[in-house]
Amino acid sequence: MTLLLAESFAERGARERAQALLDSSTYRELLDPFARVSSPYLAAQGVAPQFDDGVVVARGTLGGVRACVIATDGRFLGGSIGEIGGAKIAGALERSRRDAERGTAIRTVLALDTGGIRLQEANLGILAVAEICDAIVALRELVPVVAVIAGRVGVYGGLSLSTALCSQVIVSEGARIGLNGPDVVETEAGIDEMDSSDRPLIWRVMGGRRRYAQGFATDFVDDDIAAVRAAVERAFVQPRELGPLAAPPFPDPRLDRTSFLHAMGIEP
Ligand code: COA
Repeated sequence: MTLLLAESFAERGARERAQALLDSSTYRELLDPFARVSSPYLAAQGVAPQFDDGVVVARGTLGGVRACVIATDGRFLGGSIGEIGGAKIAGALERSRRDAERGTAIRTVLALDTGGIRLQEANLGILAVAEICDAIVALRELVPVVAVIAGRVGVYGGLSLSTALCSQVIVSEGARIGLNGPDVVETEAGIDEMDSSDRPLIWRVMGGRRRYAQGFATDFVDDDIAAVRAAVERAFVQPRELGPLAAPPFPDPRLDRTSFLHAMGIEP
């Protein structure tokens, strides 16, 4: 019965996710599609741009407190981050920081669904991610920054680094978190290393449940709007600490330099 009543968060688009997280009737979008701020690089590569560049920045209240929700649109180029979308995210984080510095309570949520840096805007995407990481670190010194990974794509590449910098990370079963996506692993290391069409394998290795068990997320929720919203409010009111990582750090600090080089197939 509960399953039948669940309203999927993952099936929603970025705008609907932001609307679902903010208190009803408080949603106000910054640089919405009517502003027509889109990527100038895509058309030349034969790709149709989108008027919000795949990033929704919305302000309003969340649990009655001023809030900013930043949501990436996994349906547009895999939610990838280019110059414009990246600047919107970094700018929204910067604005939250200014609020926090002035002593205004501000709740900032990143609802991410992204294949990482946009391949069509590679270097600009890298710069944007650096700015986003910088802005998250500065903001979380003042107030919690909450990431929600509960979409169809998951979070990959540079944005997985940004996620790891957030103070709270909420995941659902359908989420995926990884630095290199399965497509990249298969291309670079071969199909024996990872078959990107083997979805059960992908979720066993980098799925939401797995990442939560490994200590990469602070909360694991059902794919249900009410459950995600409740987890987000909880993250601000009763923040959870990330536990120790189940996976050993790499390179293993116990390895001496010679054994490390040997393990990497490099002659010392
Ligand atoms: N830049 C541009 N486009 C991207 C992208 C990126 N970083 N990541 C995904 N996309 C696009 C795909 O090309 C695809 O486009 P298409 O529909 O025109 O073919 C679309 O997003 C959906 O991706 P798809 O691979 O069909 O969906 P999936 O659910 O099977 O897998 C990923 C999604 C993200 C797991 C997979 O695309 C992947 O492994 N991407 C690489 C992620 C990565 O390593 N990023 C590091 C970059 S820094």
